[in-house]
Amino acid sequence: MKTQCLVVNPWNPEGPVLEEATGILRRGGLVAFPTETVYGLGANGLDASAVTAIYRAKGRPSDNPLILHVSSPLEAEPLAFLDARSRALMSAFWPGPLTLVLPSRPIVPFETRGGLDSVALRMPDHPVALALIDRVGVPLAAPSANLSGRPSPTDASAVLFDLGGRIDLVLDAGPVSVGVESTVIGLCDETPLLLRAGGTAKEDIEDFLGVPLQIPNEESSRRSPGTRYRHYAPFVPVLVWKPPEPCTCPAPQIWGYLGLTPPPLPFARVVLFESLGNYARGLFAGFRLMEKEGLEGVVVQWPSGEGIGLALRDRIRRAAAVGS
Ligand code: TXA
Ligand code: MG
Repeated sequence: MKTQCLVVNPWNPEGPVLEEATGILRRGGLVAFPTETVYGLGANGLDASAVTAIYRAKGRPSDNPLILHVSSPLEAEPLAFLDARSRALMSAFWPGPLTLVLPSRPIVPFETRGGLDSVALRMPDHPVALALIDRVGVPLAAPSANLSGRPSPTDASAVLFDLGGRIDLVLDAGPVSVGVESTVIGLCDETPLLLRAGGTAKEDIEDFLGVPLQIPNEESSRRSPGTRYRHYAPFVPVLVWKPPEPCTCPAPQIWGYLGLTPPPLPFARVVLFESLGNYARGLFAGFRLMEKEGLEGVVVQWPSGEGIGLALRDRIRRAAAVGS
């Protein structure tokens, strides 16, 4: 398969480009598109065979469910059983990097739900994503557009690197703004769960709900299968440096470094971020840069866990866990 790549205006997507993507999606094909968090690999979320093609292209375990992307809160109504709490969260945080896991209605295929009785819903904050969903007229199932286990793609070249030849089309709208995936919260029981830290700060959701988000135990993390898998890892090893502990690296002269403050060792390549937000935006791209430049590994500075820092910590922890 040849993967087509079309440049699209991020603020005002061109009609003919959307038309091309819409045609592919209506025929059951795969289109990677930008969201504010990371690029997604989209298919018709109500078509079981289109959804199966997503799992195949990514090499993703079929029990790891997908997020359905909608272009308005109203479109969520036929997909899940909503209540006052979920509707309030949608009006406060959508469009934006917040995914709600809710009891599914029967219209959502088994394949999209990874066999669970719940469904994950999100309205992305990106004009291209919203226009595309709107035009296709169905919710788009879309995991991050990387090979399973790899860092999520924050621009079109990362999508092509992982999935070129395996999908029909990539819409290139330039780099994303958030850089880590959405926050996933579980709303199937009375106690809201934090299933994945992400682009919406945990503190903001808790302030809004007036109750703390519970961190899932063994039992409920079985309900968010994605959290069981190793993830976000570049091909090179990742080591974490937690100041004030000593920074250890087998060979800084052939390793790279990503962090907020200058490293105490002479690394071959140093990428410094000015803020936690920039760190989040640049972490996955930084991993891919280190690979491309042929470095032997990367040392990553452990950030504070506030705001988006919680998501950064989670991604860094998982990337570094590979091989251990
Ligand atoms: O920002 C994002 O969320 C991006 C963009 C493309 O929207 N998407 C994304 O999708 O990160 P993915 O498939 O890479 O991650 C979805 C996460 C996984 O951890 C999955 O297990 C969890 O959401 N999830 C999906 N459906 C679920 C469900 N019904 N119950 C529990 N967890 C669910
Ligand atoms: Mg992913």
